[in-house]
Amino acid sequence: MRQPTLQTTRLTLRPYQLTDAPRMQQLAGERAIAVTTLRIPHPYRDCVAEEWIATALERAATGKAYHFAMVLTETDEFLGSVGLTVQREWERAELGYWMGVSYWGRGYTTEAAIEIVRFGFEDLGLNRIYASVFANNPASARVLEKAGLIYEGRHVHAIKKSDEFLDTLTYARVKAT
Ligand SMILES: CC(C)(COP(=O)(O)OP(=O)(O)OC[C@H]1O[C@@H](n2cnc3c(N)ncnc32)[C@H](O)[C@@H]1OP(=O)(O)O)[C@@H](O)C(=O)NCCC(=O)NCCS
Repeated sequence: MRQPTLQTTRLTLRPYQLTDAPRMQQLAGERAIAVTTLRIPHPYRDCVAEEWIATALERAATGKAYHFAMVLTETDEFLGSVGLTVQREWERAELGYWMGVSYWGRGYTTEAAIEIVRFGFEDLGLNRIYASVFANNPASARVLEKAGLIYEGRHVHAIKKSDEFLDTLTYARVKAT
């Protein structure tokens, strides 16, 4: 399906545009974003945002992933990113997001995650939406809980980041619940 633009009370969730790249580089480039995510580099070098956006658009065109720019509707400010990586074979998707540090704690990511979960079940027809967070990321766990995902368990030393083994917590929601 063609990637839609979604609306929440305060946010517009829209497909990325290449013009988002400079602001994305500034916001995603903050160290605090890399600390609790697996694939966001730090330092965030030139061209990384442009390449990521080009790939995101390709993946949306083939239904493999739907990444949305989170934009404040009132001001058109780019705030962060939210998206689903789809595994169509199993009718499931992994939810992921990051929010620019200066916008933390205002409920924006929760607002977006609730809408993306709805999009996944209702518009994409998925059966399961899940996410894994580092055990030391309570803010993200809270976002998932508020989006209706249920804690499934802890994976001890599931990943290695900066030479340290870290536990992850998995949350999920299935269509019927
Ligand atoms: C995780 C993240 C997206 C949250 O964004 P946000 O817009 O601040 O989230 P919200 O404001 O919607 O909700 C945050 C919730 O976490 C809570 N929270 C924040 N810090 C917390 C902490 N240290 N302990 C417990 N709860 C915490 C907030 O109080 C809020 O819950 P509440 O509404 O019940 O009070 C943001 O911190 C981020 O981008 N982190 C870096 C990237 C990242 O970790 N991405 C997720 C990878 S799984």
